[in-house]
Parts: sequence; C-alpha cells; structure tokens
Amino acid sequence: MSDFEELYDIAVAAQDHAYCPYSRYPVGAALRTASGKVFSGCNVENAAYPLGSCAEAGAITAMVLAGEHEIVELVTVTGGIVPGTPCGGCRQRIREFAQSSAVVHSTTTESGHKASITLTIGELLPESFGPENLFGKPES
Ligand code: THU
Repeated sequence: MSDFEELYDIAVAAQDHAYCPYSRYPVGAALRTASGKVFSGCNVENAAYPLGSCAEAGAITAMVLAGEHEIVELVTVTGGIVPGTPCGGCRQRIREFAQSSAVVHSTTTESGHKASITLTIGELLPESFGPENLFGKPES
C-alpha cells in the first residue's frame, strides 16, 4: 500500500464519522507529518451554521494536540463526482503548518481515487501570507 493509499483509507474512515445534517456533504481528511505520524478529521456542522468546522481543521487540531507542526502530505475525501478541493480557509490552515512543496490530494469516493486532484499547497495558495511574514524567516 502506498503512502497515498494509506492516507486515503484513513480519510475515508474519517468521512464516515462526518456530522453534516445540514449540507449532507461529508468530508474526511487525513494528513501525514514530517515525523510520519498520521492524523485525521471530519467536518462537524452546527445548527448555528457558521460554527461548523471543516475536516481539515479537525485533522490539524489533532496534529497540534499531539505536538506535531509539519504537514508533508494531506488527503481529503468528499462526495460527488468532482473532488472538492480544500476551501480557501483550509488552504490557509494547511499552509500554516506546511512547506510550499507539501502535497494535497483532493479525492472523492464516488469516482475512486483515480479522479483525484494532486497539487502542492503552494499551487493551491500561491504567494500566501504566513508565519515568515511575521517572523522574517524566508520560506524554504
Ligand atoms: N468542508 C470541509 O470539510 N472542507 C472543505 O475544505 C470544504 C468544505 C465542509 C464544510 C461543510 O460542513 C460542508 O463541507 C459543506 O460545505
């Protein structure tokens, strides 16, 4: 099993736990850190709609809680024929903890992972704002 397939399977398992009674659009995310640990999350909606959170946000919270800060690869799994790439806010969330070369695979269970869109976070969020802007450290 490839690194991608492992993350994909974990993201599918996370998607199964999505709480999305309002959108009925379940999302799962799984990420691997530089140390090789894997964390996952699902979207969690709320009757007060703006309080809902994305799958990527849940996976990042789990990662930070474990003391990890560097994402090297991330997989999202959505429904539908066309894979849903991470929303703008989640691109920024991922970027906070990733080099621009970190790989993001957007996949959908309906089309299988062959329909996935693979881009780096630098491609998904070019010329982005990040910690380097505040701390003056050039991005590698
Ligand atoms: N959603 C995610 O979990 N991640 C994204 O990157 C895009 C959108 C969720 C939020 C909401 O629960 C549902 O998908 C529909 O927007």
